[in-house]
Amino acid sequence: MKKGKLIVFEGLDGTGKTTQIKRLAEELRRRGETVFVTAEPTDLPSGQLLRRVLSGEVPGTPWATAALFLSDRIRHCTDPDNGMAKHLAAGETVITDRYYFSTFAYQGCETDLQWTMDMHYRCPELLRPDLVLFLTMPPEKCMERITANRPAEAIEIYENTAALTRISRQFDIVFALLKEKENIVYINADGTIDEVAARIKAAL
Ligand code: TYD
Repeated sequence: MKKGKLIVFEGLDGTGKTTQIKRLAEELRRRGETVFVTAEPTDLPSGQLLRRVLSGEVPGTPWATAALFLSDRIRHCTDPDNGMAKHLAAGETVITDRYYFSTFAYQGCETDLQWTMDMHYRCPELLRPDLVLFLTMPPEKCMERITANRPAEAIEIYENTAALTRISRQFDIVFALLKEKENIVYINADGTIDEVAARIKAAL
């Protein structure tokens, strides 16, 4: 079924994933590829509920939040109108801003990492990525960027230096564990937009 390539961007909030995804999509389109850019949480009802949990408006336990992310992700893959599987089947390159590695990192350190991995790797409705670009940057620097770009009331539950430091360590643990299983490239995201874009282009 899957014909196109699935590229995943991962990294802490504030590493510049959105900007770099835009740049990469432009680059691939120049090369003649049809590119579909997407993100998690999705804009589907499951993703809208997650946004309310992330803002602190709706209470959620870490375990329930992890399960909600899985549910939103299955929908992200399989949605008949705009799901990633449909775009891949049409031969498009799909780039997603976050995927299951975010659940391993963000919810994995608050629940049970193995449980979060099992429920994803044992789920036949999820797509496997062809390439994972992991944007790395010190958590303090991420926090500087987050607070510079947003009003205080728009800061989400994980967007504080203590949480980001813990999640950063968890990302390192996760990607070390998965180095044989997934195609992961580390990208140093501490640099200008052009510098980081050049690193991504070289990695491709
Ligand atoms: P993010 O990509 O940062 O969106 P935005 O830039 O619009 O805020 O994602 C929102 C938050 O969701 C971010 O703090 C990370 C968190 N998240 C998880 O905790 N688990 C997940 O599985 C995913 C996909 C995101």
